[in-house]
Amino acid sequence: MRIDILSLFPSMFFGTFSESIIKRAVQKGFLELHVHNIRDYSEDKHKRVDDYPFGGGAGMVMMIEPISKCIEKLKSERDYDSIIYMAPDGKRFDQLQANTLSLKKNIMILCGHYKGIDERIRELYITDEISIGDYVLSGGEIAAMVIVDSIARIIPGVLNDESSALTDSFQNGLLSPPVYTRPADFKGHKVPDILLSGHEQKISEWKFEQQLERTKKRRPDLLD
Ligand code: ADE
Repeated sequence: MRIDILSLFPSMFFGTFSESIIKRAVQKGFLELHVHNIRDYSEDKHKRVDDYPFGGGAGMVMMIEPISKCIEKLKSERDYDSIIYMAPDGKRFDQLQANTLSLKKNIMILCGHYKGIDERIRELYITDEISIGDYVLSGGEIAAMVIVDSIARIIPGVLNDESSALTDSFQNGLLSPPVYTRPADFKGHKVPDILLSGHEQKISEWKFEQQLERTKKRRPDLLD
């Protein structure tokens, strides 16, 4: 799949996209990432991308022309399944939406800054508005990285152990069970006996019970 990101701060993405799972997804050819600098699409001689809000009020607003020009150019090159705007007033992101997005071919992610973008961009182009939580970030970039990471790791073939993404927290609506590795005894703190028993059926029952118990205790809202 291909993801185009529109941002005023493209270099924010460089580190994140060149490490770990995202890097692997790109190197293996499962994911194509393109970051576009919105400022490159400004026709203003000072390369302005923001202006004062009509009607007054605090903060600057990202102007319609540069964003529109960038979106139009990309749309003329290929069809997009989703054009996403990262915003604190968007729909709260979850695993289900990550799964859905991971099946798309081309998506665009627009990162806002300042007080937001001219509302007409939302009306004209945006198909999905996504928030990563009820708090305000200084821009959509970090939120966009969250989305890209959550998508990259579930594209089939990206993770070595293919079952790994399927047993994540949230994939079956429950939190993950606790995990342990060597040593089996750390200064008297022992790994649960059942995990050392070799009894597959019992181990998988234990894991499920742990998932239920954890979810009940930590995130009862998931069981509603
Ligand atoms: N931009 C600013 N805050 C955000 C949030 N919480 N989620 C997504 N994009 C944002």
